[in-house]
Amino acid sequence: MLSRRGSDAGFRWGCKLGLGFVTLEILLLFLYLETKTAAYIEEHHTHDPGRGNENIVSHSCIHDQILEQRKKPGHKIYSVTPQVYQESTTSKPLYRRGRALLGLSTFSVKQREAKQPIRIYLNYDAVGHSADRDCRNVGDIVKLGEPPVNSVPGSPLCNVHGEPPVFGDCWYNCTLEDISGEDKQQRLRKALGQTVEWFGKALAVEPVRGNLRLSGYSACGQDGGVQLPREYVEEGVANVDLVLLVTTRPTTGNTLAWAVACERDQWGRAIAGHVNVAPRHLTAEAETLLSATLIHEVMHVLGFDPHAFSHFRDERKRRRNKVTEQAMDEKIGRMVTRVVLPRVVMHSRFHYGAFSDNFTGLELEDGGGRGTSGSHWEKRLLMNEIMTGSVDTRSVVSKMTLALLEDSGWYEANYSMADHLDWGRNQGTNFVTLPCNLWKGAYHCNTSQFSGCTYNREAEGYCPIVSYSIDLPHWAQYFPQANKGGQSSLADYCTYFVAYSDGSCTDANSARPPDRMLGEVRGSDSRCMSSSLVRTRFMRGSTAQGNGCYQHRCVNKTLEVAVDGMWKACPEMGGPIQFPGFNGDLICPAYHELCSTVTMPASGQCPNSCNFNGDCVGGQCHCFLGFQGHDCSNRSCPGQCSGHGQCLANGMCLCDDRYAGIDCSTEVCDEQCSLHGGVCDNGKCEFRCSDYAGYTCQNSSVLLSTLSKCQDVLEIGHSGQHCAPSEPSVLQQLEEVVVMPNYHRLFPGGARKLINNLFHKQYDCDAAAKKLACWISIQKCDKDGDNRLRVCHSACQSYNKACGASLDCSDLTLFSGENEQGNQCTGSDEVSHIKPPRALDAIKQMLLMYRCRE
Ligand SMILES: *[C@@H]1O[C@H](CO)[C@@H](O)[C@H](O)[C@H]1NC(C)=O
Ligand SMILES: *[C@@H]1O[C@H](CO)[C@@H](O)[C@H](O)[C@H]1NC(C)=O
Ligand SMILES: *[C@@H]1O[C@H](CO)[C@@H](O)[C@H](O)[C@H]1NC(C)=O
Ligand SMILES: *[C@@H]1O[C@H](CO)[C@@H](O)[C@H](O)[C@H]1NC(C)=O
Ligand SMILES: *[C@@H]1O[C@H](CO)[C@@H](O)[C@H](O)[C@H]1NC(C)=O
Ligand SMILES: *[C@@H]1O[C@H](CO)[C@@H](O)[C@H](O)[C@H]1NC(C)=O
Ligand SMILES: *[C@@H]1O[C@H](CO)[C@@H](O)[C@H](O)[C@H]1NC(C)=O
Ligand SMILES: [Zn+2]
Repeated sequence: MLSRRGSDAGFRWGCKLGLGFVTLEILLLFLYLETKTAAYIEEHHTHDPGRGNENIVSHSCIHDQILEQRKKPGHKIYSVTPQVYQESTTSKPLYRRGRALLGLSTFSVKQREAKQPIRIYLNYDAVGHSADRDCRNVGDIVKLGEPPVNSVPGSPLCNVHGEPPVFGDCWYNCTLEDISGEDKQQRLRKALGQTVEWFGKALAVEPVRGNLRLSGYSACGQDGGVQLPREYVEEGVANVDLVLLVTTRPTTGNTLAWAVACERDQWGRAIAGHVNVAPRHLTAEAETLLSATLIHEVMHVLGFDPHAFSHFRDERKRRRNKVTEQAMDEKIGRMVTRVVLPRVVMHSRFHYGAFSDNFTGLELEDGGGRGTSGSHWEKRLLMNEIMTGSVDTRSVVSKMTLALLEDSGWYEANYSMADHLDWGRNQGTNFVTLPCNLWKGAYHCNTSQFSGCTYNREAEGYCPIVSYSIDLPHWAQYFPQANKGGQSSLADYCTYFVAYSDGSCTDANSARPPDRMLGEVRGSDSRCMSSSLVRTRFMRGSTAQGNGCYQHRCVNKTLEVAVDGMWKACPEMGGPIQFPGFNGDLICPAYHELCSTVTMPASGQCPNSCNFNGDCVGGQCHCFLGFQGHDCSNRSCPGQCSGHGQCLANGMCLCDDRYAGIDCSTEVCDEQCSLHGGVCDNGKCEFRCSDYAGYTCQNSSVLLSTLSKCQDVLEIGHSGQHCAPSEPSVLQQLEEVVVMPNYHRLFPGGARKLINNLFHKQYDCDAAAKKLACWISIQKCDKDGDNRLRVCHSACQSYNKACGASLDCSDLTLFSGENEQGNQCTGSDEVSHIKPPRALDAIKQMLLMYRCRE
């Protein structure tokens, strides 16, 4: 094995010096990692004999890395395929803003809000059907990611146990565990089936009417993706809101699965996604972990994804202008990104008891050295929440995650599907705004010398502090020694008590026996408490910890604890109590720590928790749009439905056909918008490059050679970025499907032809039509590199004048406003580039005359 690699490297060394060097380095790294892994497994075995070496206890998500890779030029992003959501009704007079370039039938719409459980369809057609990516036989060398095009299969070889997991571009050597046999496929179907069922209960969505339509423009997903079945594209899929294409390709490290969205509807909601589950982890032992992992990954498809954030809608059905907020946080000492969505903030306040306006949003994972971020909650703050960057069997779905999906505007969440998250509960504003070395009580420890109670008092634990070989980032230096810190980079190297494997107070089976001398009892109602108790005439042993497990109960608004079967009431705020027959004290927890149910003592709590229809700051409810009253219990028609709808008895607006949103204040676009691939925002049809399949903003020089029709148009002084597909085949399609039809429609026919001929000598109508068609198809990108700049108003006018056409230039779905600024639209200076100024003046005069006649 070694010698083969050696000869590979030698070959490369000979022909390409630089590359050879890199290869060699990678090989050295592999050798190093392999020995390290071996050592790890050995150690593992000594601790835990009888278990296999594939006993992974957590899933590391690589969604951030996948997104980073998808941003690279040439990678497919998403496509927008508009869906029908409302009943089409009769042929009422059309409401449209002029654009009819692609002539299509129209229908008027009725506002409907009835959301139904989301219907997710699982398609397994691609399982095992990718020759170069699926493991079929032991020793198969398959692609993972996109290994260099001219690399020899097998080099670079993937490191199976790579840690931390990195989305590899490498060749994978298949083992028996990577082949998805019948048993593995059955587990896969069962696990995914349960996931789909779970989401059906947790989320409701406005159902797609008729068949779900998919574009199938390019392969869906990551890692080569999956081609959509032909019949999905041609006929659509019945009774479905989202299609998930499943594959079982290998992964490295402890990444069990990954998933991405690949098509969105006109509102930005994912309608197709790609889910990959590694066969290696489809084992009976990993079943629980896999369930949690799949819920996590499908959450990414549904909307927990920075790309999806840019499509989120508010209750008015407008694009949200703020989903996250990035700011330098002076207290924490670094840049943080926070989700500032209203329901996320509200549920966070109720969870943490953070009713101060110092709390502005819930932090996203910054990566802790993992590069990019944006797809996960900050582990320091949410710990075992399912949408943190690592998932294990204790992961829970919190209301905050469901709130994020609801704030997308696409879903209604069923909050009774949320689990109880203990971490941070009722810890107050300081918990979410201060660095973790200033946390109080069990959330923080600073020496590994002493044991303590874990944060939820369910176990006795220790305080792991690691000495790293390098210094930690400045903001994570909680100790005088810059290289000392907690064990989790995702949790910002914070130090907190971690349960001993035999330290559980609640699970008598797994824990060591209780110490009778200390009056301890273990069992479901026991909790860990600080204590110096010991039976009279005995001494606490030197091995005794400063804590123990004691029974508790909540009666008559009082916390009671038992020592040796004797119950005593605790002071409400907690503190020491004594027991007859024992020396020393038991330190009672505060009442709210163990007994709080609905009412929380946190200062600033609001009446009835604002019925979860409003944000609670300093004791005052700030009701969401559509709710009223001191506790937001009353539904109201906001702004009398803006005069565009009817206020129903239940306080909901029934909007006129042209308006949407909770207050009927938002204009709807005519369906031409979405049929052209635009995204509607308050009557304005927006075009973003990343909303299209396979489109990126790229140098016009790149597209010239391939998009023949528009070549000369783009050559004229329009360097810079244009929104266009990068693949020649898609470019060709673009020309056939968009440029040519537009071009032909722009051609005035019949009688107009005659007038055109009059002008032909001065101004070429044919060329003008072609130009406009090209501008419409290939728009300039703005500086941010994603938004497409509408075609200039003047370009439309020039075309009309040249061709005697009457295209509606006030159509803001396509053209910029009349007072366009030079660089803020596509194709403004087109006229001056074609004709020398003098000739242009002449044309202008003629055109003026022409306009008068019109
Ligand atoms: C793949 O693994 C097998 C078995 O471990 C080994 O014999 C083979 O040489 C490996 N192939 C490559 C290209 O490393
Ligand atoms: C909401 O969740 C609860 C509890 O899991 C479940 O019983 C109920 O059916 C769900 N509601 C809907 C509409 O699915
Ligand atoms: C809010 O932040 C300010 C400035 O850091 C601090 O002085 C104040 O005590 C904080 N208020 C609360 C309620 O945490
Ligand atoms: C550790 O924390 C305790 C209180 O929680 C404090 O008294 C002590 O000084 C701290 N020690 C160090 C080394 O920071
Ligand atoms: C509850 O406590 C109150 C005083 O704190 C006492 O008067 C009352 O009798 C108690 N009730 C029960 C059922 O123990
Ligand atoms: C709700 O609002 C209506 C009208 O504004 C009012 O008549 C009614 O009393 C309110 N109900 C509550 C519970 O506040
Ligand atoms: C566009 O092309 C120019 C010149 O060829 C080059 O300098 C520039 O980096 C390119 N930009 C991108 C984003 O590819
Ligand atoms: Zn993830």
